[in-house]
Amino acid sequence: MSNNSQLSGEVFSPSDEIVSQTAVKDWDALREFAENDLEGFWANEASQLHWFQKWDKVLDDSNKPFYKWFTGGKVNISYNCLDLHAQTARRNKLALLWEGEKGEFRSFSYFALKREVCKFANVLKSLGVQKGDRVTIYMGRIPELPMAMLACARIGAIHSVVYGGFTVEALHERLEDSQSKVLIVADGSYQRGKIVPLKAIADEALQRAATVQSVLVVKRTGEPVNMEFGRDMWLHELMSLPIASTTCSMEIMDAEDPLFILYTSGTTGKPKAILHTHGGYMVGTYSTLKYVFDVKEEDRYWCAADPGWITGHSYIVYGPLLNGLTSFMYEGAPNYPYPNRWWQMIEKWGINILYTAPTAIRGLMRFGENWPNRHDLSSLRLLGSVGEPINPEAWKWYHRVIGKGNCPIMDTWWQTETGMFMITPFPVSPLKPGSGTKPFPGVKMDILNEDGKPVKPDEEGFLVVQSPWPAMMRTIYNDPERYINQYWSRYPGCYLTGDSARKDKDDYYWIIGRVDDVIKVSGYRLGTAEIESALVSHHFVSEAAAIGLPHEVKGNAIHAYVILKSGVEYTDRLLDELRAHVAHELGPIAKPDYIEIVDSLPKTRSGKIMRRVLKAKALGQDPGNLSTLEE
Ligand code: WT7
Repeated sequence: MSNNSQLSGEVFSPSDEIVSQTAVKDWDALREFAENDLEGFWANEASQLHWFQKWDKVLDDSNKPFYKWFTGGKVNISYNCLDLHAQTARRNKLALLWEGEKGEFRSFSYFALKREVCKFANVLKSLGVQKGDRVTIYMGRIPELPMAMLACARIGAIHSVVYGGFTVEALHERLEDSQSKVLIVADGSYQRGKIVPLKAIADEALQRAATVQSVLVVKRTGEPVNMEFGRDMWLHELMSLPIASTTCSMEIMDAEDPLFILYTSGTTGKPKAILHTHGGYMVGTYSTLKYVFDVKEEDRYWCAADPGWITGHSYIVYGPLLNGLTSFMYEGAPNYPYPNRWWQMIEKWGINILYTAPTAIRGLMRFGENWPNRHDLSSLRLLGSVGEPINPEAWKWYHRVIGKGNCPIMDTWWQTETGMFMITPFPVSPLKPGSGTKPFPGVKMDILNEDGKPVKPDEEGFLVVQSPWPAMMRTIYNDPERYINQYWSRYPGCYLTGDSARKDKDDYYWIIGRVDDVIKVSGYRLGTAEIESALVSHHFVSEAAAIGLPHEVKGNAIHAYVILKSGVEYTDRLLDELRAHVAHELGPIAKPDYIEIVDSLPKTRSGKIMRRVLKAKALGQDPGNLSTLEE
């Protein structure tokens, strides 16, 4: 272990108790092993899981950047998540523990979850879903969401989960691009005591999308919904028919067969479908969770993200189940009905690991310490953070008030594209508030300047990955060109993350933020292009530009600049209408905090909006080089 006294800045060292109870203490040795024998390191991890047939080759880099992992291997991630444990002493252990916003709870042992997933998979088969078909899943945080994902995986269908906070146009675009055959949707979801009418939103999206043949509706709220004859069916009705048998044969997949696509925002244009596979993704999520959260058989683990984002895919569903953990999932808002809701559940369920986002911590911090202090949080052993840089003030509050100074915070940096943790501490790492410390073993990263040279300590540059890793995205579904251009063209042989960062003298990484046109709002990733196109789809708007400006709780707030069509009168009501329009088309998270009506926008001579000029102006900063500005 490194000598902390040699580290610069404010350092939090793990307690003796943490060190003694953590399984792996010698990270330097593991890093060295992975550095000297990358394939050996990952083969060792992969061999802890079940393969129907072992791989021929760990890493196939013959067609860069289309890397392949565990080629020749036959596997199914769903088998490793469920069947494997259902055959052992874990059979009756809770796989999934769920609490609804209204306080009800449901739980599934590994045996029970496997049974439900088999029934669900048989229902999908009866609708004609086959290996390789795309199935879109759109619901709130309810147990049927992971079940639907695992059911797709079992029969080799490719799931595409659309976050339940998105709305009509976002759903339509994703249905259309993925050419989904089936949509699985909940009648509605609960959000702060109100009902979000998911089925009605889906009906509107379906009017715009043509490929969906069947819609499976999950009953959550029981509110009346429109059911289209011949297209829409209730899940619970099909689950009670003989077709929904409790046994369902496992599709034997190639390691490189697609497991899911997940849409995320990029630099330009439409969201891109990031593709992940059964083999490599499985190994990466299994191994990173095991080491970083030092999982123990008796742990109750809570990742408070939404399964509709990569955090939920990797670390609510797949990673925890692969590790045989009990994964806790909560349906509602953190402060509903009161700001102690989370702390109450940690106490009630005896949660040992809490993994959440800085925005949630900052939001709960505002209510003061009395709310958490009323509860016994002593079950907590480890804390986690993800989604955006965590400011040292929030880090320290989380550490002191929630972790009582005893729980190390795993600040994990990764992306939809990386599938797994890339920069992360381990329980025994000396921590610096705001830094995710160093790359995971076997992951080679650096920070480069414009010319592709590594920057000096404390200098800002572009964060890149210089070696392949098993859970890496394989391509953008249906758009391999864009995969190459967006991620692999800037610096030869390097994966471009889109983030800027710096490294300090101790080689600790500090993430600064996105350098592209992506805005992180409450940890959610949104493209300026999507917000702008939602604004422009309003019949009064001729042009729009969106930027992110610092916000105390959300990290970033959306500011939009809008040029109205000629003849349209400006009114205050119009601004509200435009904001509501974006919420209707994209989702409430994309609703601009602030809209300004302008006569013109700063553009380059080729017509590209110069958002950095807008941003500098809004922040009262120097806009820098304006030589490419048109006027
Ligand atoms: C972007 C990826 C991967 C989970 C959720 C987000 C930012 C993520 C951290 C962190 C600083 C972070 C980056 C990254 N980000 N984790 N620990 N510290 N920034 O996935 O939606 O694909 O967003 O989130 O900017 O590029 P995503």
